[in-house]
Amino acid sequence: MAILSPSILSADYMHFAEDMAQTKADGAKWLHVDIMDGHFVPNMSFGYAWVKAMRKITDLVLDVHLMIDTPIKYAEEFCKAGADYLTIHVEADTPENIQKTLEQIRSHGVKPGIVVKPKTPAEAIAQYLPMVDLVLVMTVEPGFGGQKFMADMMPKLKKLRQMLDEVNPQCHLEVDGGVDLTTGEVCKENGADVLVAGSAFFGSADRAAFCAQIEK
Ligand code: DX5
Ligand code: ZN
Repeated sequence: MAILSPSILSADYMHFAEDMAQTKADGAKWLHVDIMDGHFVPNMSFGYAWVKAMRKITDLVLDVHLMIDTPIKYAEEFCKAGADYLTIHVEADTPENIQKTLEQIRSHGVKPGIVVKPKTPAEAIAQYLPMVDLVLVMTVEPGFGGQKFMADMMPKLKKLRQMLDEVNPQCHLEVDGGVDLTTGEVCKENGADVLVAGSAFFGSADRAAFCAQIEK
């Protein structure tokens, strides 16, 4: 059993509340929210206000992915805005600040997550594995939806599942980027239990069937 986390980057912003209600009706339990600062990644997206507004219109799990520099400066506001999971990039700050940020997120009653870009090895997050509820492996370079899935991330995914099984077996292992019904299968085979899908889910002619199939 896996969990689908539809990435709202590909949702219909002009009919957003209706689109989220439909996404819930289609069977989704989580929503993936990409926060980009135009600096850590070469794109911009949503801020606190958007997460706060989402919290008012949906009771689905808000899986917030911060693609921003020095997340220690902003994490608290995203916690207050209503994130359920708040995931920060290991590349975005010093090890000391990454540790502090994860602790700060936890102290707000929010579940902390850590994410690695494609070129970052599994070992780079080893020290944080016991203290997080979610590990995210990027299967594209972060910044944009609709990119090609990087199958060469699978050994890293598998390795992280093994590492987690030793120190934190309850922790979710999530993949993000280029995930569709075919690549999603490969991710599940390699240990992922949460699958982010943006363009493939929102572009699907039958989203309910997509959700049911990928969550099998
Ligand atoms: C990319 C984002 C993803 C993106 C995925 O930087 O983190 O969440 O929305 O989009 P797809 O599923 O279209 O690759
Ligand atoms: Zn994302």
